[in-house]
Amino acid sequence: MCGIFGYIGNRNDAGKLVIEGLKHLEYRGYDSWGIAIKEEGNSILLEKDIGKISEVDSNNFTMQSNLAIAHTRWATHGGVTKENAHPHICEDCSIAVVHNGIIENYEELREELKQKGYDFKSQTDSEVIPHLIQEELKNTNDFAQAVRSACKRFKGRYGLLAMDLNSKTLVAARTGSPLIIGVKKDTGYFIASDIPAFMEHTKVVQYLDDGEMVVTNGESILFTDIETGEEHPKREIEITWSIEKAQKGEFDHFMLKEIMEQKDSIARAVNQNEQQIKKLGEAIRNSKGTFLVGCGTAHKACMVAEYFFSVVAQEHVNVTSAGEFKLYNHFLTSESLLIVVSQSGETADVLEAMKIAKSKGAKVLAIINSEGSTIAREADDTLLINAGPERAVASTKALTGQMAVLMLIAYSMKNKLKEGKMLLLETTSLINDMLNPRYIKFIEEVAENMKDESDLYIIGKSWNFPMALESAIKIQEVSYVHAEGFAGSELKHGPIALVEKGTPCITLAGDDEIFPDIISNTIELKARGANTIGVSPIQSDAFDTWIKVPNAGVAQAIVNIIPIQVLAYYLAVKRGMNPDMPRNLAKSVTVK
Ligand code: F6R
Repeated sequence: MCGIFGYIGNRNDAGKLVIEGLKHLEYRGYDSWGIAIKEEGNSILLEKDIGKISEVDSNNFTMQSNLAIAHTRWATHGGVTKENAHPHICEDCSIAVVHNGIIENYEELREELKQKGYDFKSQTDSEVIPHLIQEELKNTNDFAQAVRSACKRFKGRYGLLAMDLNSKTLVAARTGSPLIIGVKKDTGYFIASDIPAFMEHTKVVQYLDDGEMVVTNGESILFTDIETGEEHPKREIEITWSIEKAQKGEFDHFMLKEIMEQKDSIARAVNQNEQQIKKLGEAIRNSKGTFLVGCGTAHKACMVAEYFFSVVAQEHVNVTSAGEFKLYNHFLTSESLLIVVSQSGETADVLEAMKIAKSKGAKVLAIINSEGSTIAREADDTLLINAGPERAVASTKALTGQMAVLMLIAYSMKNKLKEGKMLLLETTSLINDMLNPRYIKFIEEVAENMKDESDLYIIGKSWNFPMALESAIKIQEVSYVHAEGFAGSELKHGPIALVEKGTPCITLAGDDEIFPDIISNTIELKARGANTIGVSPIQSDAFDTWIKVPNAGVAQAIVNIIPIQVLAYYLAVKRGMNPDMPRNLAKSVTVK
C-alpha cells in the first residue's frame, strides 16, 4: 500500500521523472499524491494534493533538479487530506520524507517531539519521521546516521525515502515494506516500492532487504545494516519483465488486458522446471502436515488446490487464510510445511504466517508472481508462476497461474506430471478459443442486463465452490455490486432466503458426476424466481442464460472463473467505475 519513488543522479529533470514513474505505481494507492523536489538554490519545492497521480501533469515539474521523491497514498492513519499526503518535511524544510507502512509507536514519538517544540501539520504516523531525523541530527553531522538512529526507534513496518538538502543525499530504509533500487551507470539511482516505476530507465536492480538502509549521492551507493551499521555487499540483478507487458497496450484497462493474457500466462505457469515441481510434491509428501495459505484471491487458489490434492494426489493439506494462521501454530513442528501463495510477494498477513511457521522450525515454500519480492526472498524455496506484471488491483491472471502450478504439483505427486501438463496446455488452447470477440461481446451483454441489480449470488460445488467465492470477490471489488458465493448444497441452509424474483444467481458447473447436484441447487433457485445464469460446459433447462465454457476436467475451475472475470469487468465499466482502481483497495496489502 502506498507507492514511493525517488531519483538522484545527473539528470536534471528529477521532478518530471518521478511523477511519470509514480504513475506506474498508482495500483498501490490512489487517494492522494505528493512530491518534494530539490530546486536550484537548494530549497525544497513541495507539492501535494488529494486525487489520483494519473491525473497529475508531469510537465508542471520540469524545473532543473537532480533529486526528488514522490508518493501515491493509500490512507491508513489520518484521512484523505492534502495535509496528510506525503512527503512530510522537517521544521527547517531541509528534509523531506515519503513513507509506506505503519509506525506503530508514532503516538509516543509524536508526544515526545511535541514536547521538544516540533509542530505537526498532519494526522499521519509518517510525520514523526522527518522530525525525528532532524532531532537526531543534533547528535551527528551525518544524515545517514541520523536516519539510522531514527529508524532504530520505530516500531512497525516501513519503507521510507528521506532526502536531505544539506548533504544532497537520498537515504532509503526498510523494515517490512518493499524498496528496490534501479541502477543506471552514469545516470543515477532510482528507488521505488516496485520495479515498474523505473523500468523504462533501467532493468538492473538491487533489492533492499528488511533491516537494511542505503545512502546515495547519485554517484555511488552504500548498503548497510540499520542496527549495526555493518556494510552489506549487494548483487546487481537484471530483471526479465518487459515494458510492453507492464503497459496497457490496446486495452482500456489493465484488468481486461490481464484477463485476455491468460491464454499465454497459464502456459507460462505450466512451463516449469519439472525437477522443481517434483521437489515441492515430495516436500508435501514428506512433511508431517502441510498448510497452504494466502489472502483474498490467492487464498481461493489454495482452496481449489485442496481439491486438487484430494482428487489427484489423495494427499491431505490444511488450507486457511494467511490472516487466520496464527492459532494454527499449535499444529506446527519442525516437520511441518507451509506453502504460501501470493501474487505480489509482499502481503503482510502472508509474511506473518511465514514468521510463525519459521519460529516453529517449519519449512516455507512460496508460490509467487513477483520476482525478487520479500516473500520470494524469505522462503526456503520459491516457484514463480511467471504471469508477468499484474497491474490491475483485481487479481486475474495470477490466480489462474497459481491454480495451474498447484495442480501440477498434485499431478507430480502421483508421478503424472506429464498428464497434468498436457491437460493444462490443452486447457490453455481451449481458453484461447473461448476468449474470442463474440464471446466477450456476449458476456458484455449479460453484464448490461445485470448492471442495475444490487445483489447477486454465485454457487458452485467442489472446486467450483472456491471459484464461487472468488467470483463474489471479483464482482464486489470492481463493480461494488453486493455479490456472495456459496457452496450449492449450503443454499437451503440459509442463503436461499435472500433470493427474490429476478435475483441474478450464477451457477458454476463442470461436466462431472456432481453436475446433477448443482443443477438441483439451480432449480431450487429458479423455483424462487431467480434469474439463473449457468457457466458450464453443458446446457441445462435450469439456466435462463448459458455462458458456455469448454470442458476441462480437473482444470474446470481455471476455465470457469474467466468468464466471471470478464463479467465483473463489464459490470464495473457499465456502472461507471474504473475497474483498475477500485475504491478503498490497493494492489499489495503490506499492512496487517
Ligand atoms: C482480489 C485481490 C486480493 C489479493 C490479496 C492477496 O482481486 O487481488 O484479494 O489476492 O490481497 O494478494 P497477493 O496475492 O499479492 O498476496
